[in-house]
Amino acid sequence: MKVLFATSECAPLVKTGGLGDVSAALPPAIAALGHEVMLLMPAYADMPLQGRITGWFPVPAEGPWPAAQLLRVDRGEGVPLLLLACPQLYARSGPPYADAAGVEHPDNALRFGLLSRVAALIGTPRSPCGWTADIVHANDWPTALAPLYLRQWRDAAGAADRSRIAASMVTVHNLAFQGVVPMDWASRLGIGGAYLGVHDGAEFWGKLSMMKAGLQFADAITTVSPTYAREIQTPELGFGLDGVLRTRADRLQGILNGIDTDIWNPLRDPLIEAPFSADRLAGKAACKAALRRTLGLAEDDKRMLFGLVGRFTEQKGIDWVIAGAERLVCQGGQLAILGSGDRALETALRALAQKHPQHVRVTVGFDEALAHQIEAGSDSFLMPSRFEPCGLNQMYSQAYGTPPVVTPTGGLADSVTDAAAPGGGGTGFVMQGGSQAAFDEAVARALACWKDTPDTWRRLQRNGMQRDFGWPASARAYVRAYTGILPGADADPQGAPALSYKAGTAAAEY
Ligand code: ADP
Ligand code: GLC
Repeated sequence: MKVLFATSECAPLVKTGGLGDVSAALPPAIAALGHEVMLLMPAYADMPLQGRITGWFPVPAEGPWPAAQLLRVDRGEGVPLLLLACPQLYARSGPPYADAAGVEHPDNALRFGLLSRVAALIGTPRSPCGWTADIVHANDWPTALAPLYLRQWRDAAGAADRSRIAASMVTVHNLAFQGVVPMDWASRLGIGGAYLGVHDGAEFWGKLSMMKAGLQFADAITTVSPTYAREIQTPELGFGLDGVLRTRADRLQGILNGIDTDIWNPLRDPLIEAPFSADRLAGKAACKAALRRTLGLAEDDKRMLFGLVGRFTEQKGIDWVIAGAERLVCQGGQLAILGSGDRALETALRALAQKHPQHVRVTVGFDEALAHQIEAGSDSFLMPSRFEPCGLNQMYSQAYGTPPVVTPTGGLADSVTDAAAPGGGGTGFVMQGGSQAAFDEAVARALACWKDTPDTWRRLQRNGMQRDFGWPASARAYVRAYTGILPGADADPQGAPALSYKAGTAAAEY
């Protein structure tokens, strides 16, 4: 099977969050199962690219689309990269979606419209790079127009050609971000009127929603945990798209992300002070001491160190951490926090650190090494997200013997077992709901467990470290899902009959 994995970020080239990690790890895991996989992403400025350019293909200008090039880069063992070069759209420094001040680029519809269109083209006989995918796998809104283009071209193709057009999957990594733009972009992006309906198309409250396009037209929809797959079908976490997702529930499934166990492995992590494992935890104590020294936190044996790495947003429950910090410190805790985002949250965190210089340290910014050191050196990891499609940090922390405190939502619910669960298989502390009181209660439980019952604590650590969070199981689930939608497959991954689509007034050419 030939799979094109289309994405807007991929670590270490460019990463704003978990999508970057997933794009780096999932395609090779699928390739390891014997499939041909290529990764398509934009050629942003300043990418730390390593590898050899082994192909150069023009993508001619056409209608509203500017001319672009595809560069094929081979990176030794990794999955080959297809970089979409169009300097006027992508050669900008900084994060992929916004300028340095955090203002979204006004031409994002065109930037990611082109990325989606080229992804879709690679799934057709008109592929510009001489390689045609059987499956085009889109990820989040920046590539979610690809399923719409493929559907539009499939509808316009004659019966003989239809099966030569790739099937599509869209993976929802975070439904909170949808790529909603004014409707007049639709014609500029070559989207036919038949694909813009509110019930069966991409219209969202009078605007064009790229995410909704993906959800409406993909042959399969996945999201990054089974619990989140259920949650997004409810008004509470559906961000206005729960109705569409309920309608397409027979095409939707949750596949839990994995973690890259080469990069996140405490026995072989070059970024941490000392290696350690479930059986040899001495190195972890050295990591804690080093982290405290680096951050200037008091080295008091009786104090438990809580870590947090992530985006400072409401999603991540940072406000609960801020409001609960005073109690946490009074009860004998310390906090090592790394992240950036919402300015008001940054300011509140800084004030907290100023008030408790011995016990709270906040580092604002993106720092890969410090993220590893916090995972390794903390006793427990805080992740009280209001919602969390999957979350990677709670899996990293379990692998690093750092039992996490989490909310019972999305991938957190699917990957952490509470310390009090029957059977002794606990790996962390699952809050009883999403609230300040639930956060405070879980933190108090973690503190008590760490201080009073060291044997139980070590069992939590060992259980977490022995869990298998590797990618192979997820990769196998993706391959099963691809197999169900391959052109010619008569059933979808859940065995439901193939949906029929209204042949529209699609543009006859692409
Ligand atoms: P999300 O994608 O919602 O931000 P995830 O837990 O899935 O959350 O993934 C976040 C990824 O980004 C993790 O690899 C995490 O370590 C990393 N990360 C987030 N913020 C920072 C930061 N300030 N510095 C370094 N790494 C970070
Ligand atoms: C998103 C989600 C996060 C998930 C990541 C990778 O950024 O917020 O929960 O782990 O995507 O799928």
